[in-house]
Amino acid sequence: MRILVLHSHLGPNPRADDLDTLAMADAVSGALQQSGHTVRRAGFLPHELDGLLFQCDLVFNLVENVEGQDELCAIIPTMLEKYGVPFTGASAAAIQLTSDKPATKRILRAIGVSTPDWCEAPDWRGLDSSCRYIVKSATADASLGLDDGAVVSGAMVEARATDCKRRFGGRWFAEAFIDGREFNIGLLEDASGVRVLPLAEMRFVEWDERRPRIVGYGAKWNAEDPAFSATVRHFGCEDAEPELAAALHRIAHRCWEVFGLSGYGRVDLRLDENGQPYVLELNCNPCLSPEAGFAAAARRAGYEYGQLIDHIVRTALQ
Ligand SMILES: Nc1ncnc2c1ncn2[C@@H]1O[C@H](COP(=O)(O)OP(=O)(O)O)[C@@H](O)[C@H]1O
Ligand SMILES: [Mg+2]
Repeated sequence: MRILVLHSHLGPNPRADDLDTLAMADAVSGALQQSGHTVRRAGFLPHELDGLLFQCDLVFNLVENVEGQDELCAIIPTMLEKYGVPFTGASAAAIQLTSDKPATKRILRAIGVSTPDWCEAPDWRGLDSSCRYIVKSATADASLGLDDGAVVSGAMVEARATDCKRRFGGRWFAEAFIDGREFNIGLLEDASGVRVLPLAEMRFVEWDERRPRIVGYGAKWNAEDPAFSATVRHFGCEDAEPELAAALHRIAHRCWEVFGLSGYGRVDLRLDENGQPYVLELNCNPCLSPEAGFAAAARRAGYEYGQLIDHIVRTALQ
């Protein structure tokens, strides 16, 4: 097939997470070529899409932001749906529903899936000055703006949100800090529906206890941050804790179904001190770098990287 690998178009000063998009596009393109496809790669610019789609049988959609805005990503599947060009991953509707974290949380609450309490500007209704919160972006991914200063007492929430808005733009909200275990749950569509991949727990190993336990920007993107090597993926929950695994599977399936995810996706979740799971966010089209969590979980399930990429293409054509 003739496949267009579409990734984010990088601006003049790309961040580490933006650069990772290019590495991911390289890896996906390489895998597709190995499988015999003819591959073109391009950064997404809305006015150039028409030309790029010429002689294209499928778009492998790796776009994570449009002009630096994560929440504009739904424009790609919207345009491809309109042109009738098959594409990988999530629909426009699913991207739209999940690209705003507070909006996602409102739906989770409505369907009875636990998500941490939260509050938002301008009135910060419900904010409890004696509780701990994490101040995070409503729409940006990749742990943007999440450093040690992101976890604050209720009294400091507004100041932190104002500071983040000044530095990064966009909307910022406060979510109750769940100081417990963290899981990334990969989901992969197949002919029979959707399959939950082996559950990956992010463990904080030899952690500097002065720092909040979060997988922040440094832990994800800066190899020189001690948190980078101190956040370690661990598999084996299904055998060691079958009841917990079954509960996480149920939550993941429910999210997939209600939000209308397709192709592949990931649910990020934490357990509180009583083991109660709380969904933090849903990821349509999660990172497909060979080193990232999704590919690692797929590998545990028996899909080598090339097989995973082929599988995602085949599913998109069903
Ligand atoms: N409510 C929370 N309680 C504790 N940790 C959190 C909470 N929300 C986010 N985190 C930490 O921040 C990381 C990134 O947050 P997340 O909501 O998954 O956003 P994204 O991955 O899109 O940047 C999580 O993996 C987790 O380590
Ligand atoms: Mg996340």
